[in-house]
Amino acid sequence: MNSFLKKIKMKNILIVMLVAFIGIQFYRPEIVQKPITGEIHAPSDVRAILQRSCFDCHSNQTDLKWFDQIAPAYWLVADHIKKGKKGLNFSQWDQLAPSVQNAKLWEAFNQINLEAMPLKSYELLHPEAKLSENDIRILKNYVTSLAPKQKPDTAKVSAYNKQLQQVNAMHTTASRPSLPTALNGISYIPDYKSWKPISSTERFDNGTMRIIFGNDIAIKAAKEHTTNPWPDGTIFAKVAWEQIIDSDGNITTGAFKQVEYMIKDSKKFVSTKGWGWARFLSPKLEPYGKAADFTSECISCHRPMEDNDFVFTSPINH
Ligand code: HEC
Ligand code: HEC
Repeated sequence: MNSFLKKIKMKNILIVMLVAFIGIQFYRPEIVQKPITGEIHAPSDVRAILQRSCFDCHSNQTDLKWFDQIAPAYWLVADHIKKGKKGLNFSQWDQLAPSVQNAKLWEAFNQINLEAMPLKSYELLHPEAKLSENDIRILKNYVTSLAPKQKPDTAKVSAYNKQLQQVNAMHTTASRPSLPTALNGISYIPDYKSWKPISSTERFDNGTMRIIFGNDIAIKAAKEHTTNPWPDGTIFAKVAWEQIIDSDGNITTGAFKQVEYMIKDSKKFVSTKGWGWARFLSPKLEPYGKAADFTSECISCHRPMEDNDFVFTSPINH
């Protein structure tokens, strides 16, 4: 008798679950498929990679598998497509200015290289979306080929040297009261010039060179491998210069473009992931951003490094 009742109960539970499962299939937020207005023009091998790995979420050519169509998985997919297309849509590529296109491609390459894209949850169910090393090389070669072509430019080298002297003279620690301040209250920190460089990179999409400096606390933490999280007091400065070629054909730094800071204070900056963010655009060191929440732009691009305290750079270990 008792076990008979249990059986009925079990059956009822299963029926309720089945009905609920069927029921939720009717709640289907629509995936809007807009027309393809101006698709990216890229060599066919590049396009094939993007189509295979990215188009489901970053184009108007979403091609869902049957298992993507089943709620609740469907809800997640629909949400990814909506958010993914907002930031990057290869089917409306023509709407972007060429320099923005190049910057987006560079960002896309970085996201792939850091294994943040395609989304891991997607890769699990769509193994064909995973990029091989060869795919990554093809994309890198393509993005590199878009970089502005450069010729030796001696006039720029000497102009730059003059500018550097001016910038150095303009903002020294002694003139601190007049330091430019960003809208979130963070001031320009001239001291980075005496910090140790911890890494440098070339950005191939727009011909800039960048050096990342760390203050003493950052260098000590790097040595002691206490970098996740970085200790309070850590400061990074990332400086970008135009890249130029001198008369000997050497690639060297040109005009100073900007300096960006990340200042670690897990209490003071709790609302911005424990970091104070600021960017100053040269040559006047103008604070970047229209409102104090310009930092959300910084955070969203640094998000692939969430598990690494939002820091991209792994210090060169001595
Ligand atoms: C399953 C869906 C999905 C796939 C597949 C996918 N992405 Fe994304 N992508 C997203 C979502 C969602 C976001 C928004 C993330 C956020 O806002 O946190 C995003 C954001 C991005 C961004 C940042 C866009 C911006 O500026 O806001 C880039 C770049 C990017 N993806 C590149 C790629 C590339 C390249 C591929 C293919 C190798 C790819 N993604 C595949 C879902 C996807
Ligand atoms: C388009 C994506 C993107 C945006 C937006 C962005 N960053 Fe970054 N940032 C990077 C990448 C990638 C690196 C790694 C170094 C490199 O490749 O230049 C980096 C590195 C840094 C570093 C050196 C420490 C580290 O993480 O390696 C600082 C400091 C920094 N960014 C500050 C900022 C600030 C401040 C903002 C907002 C005003 C900002 N970033 C916005 C992509 C971005």
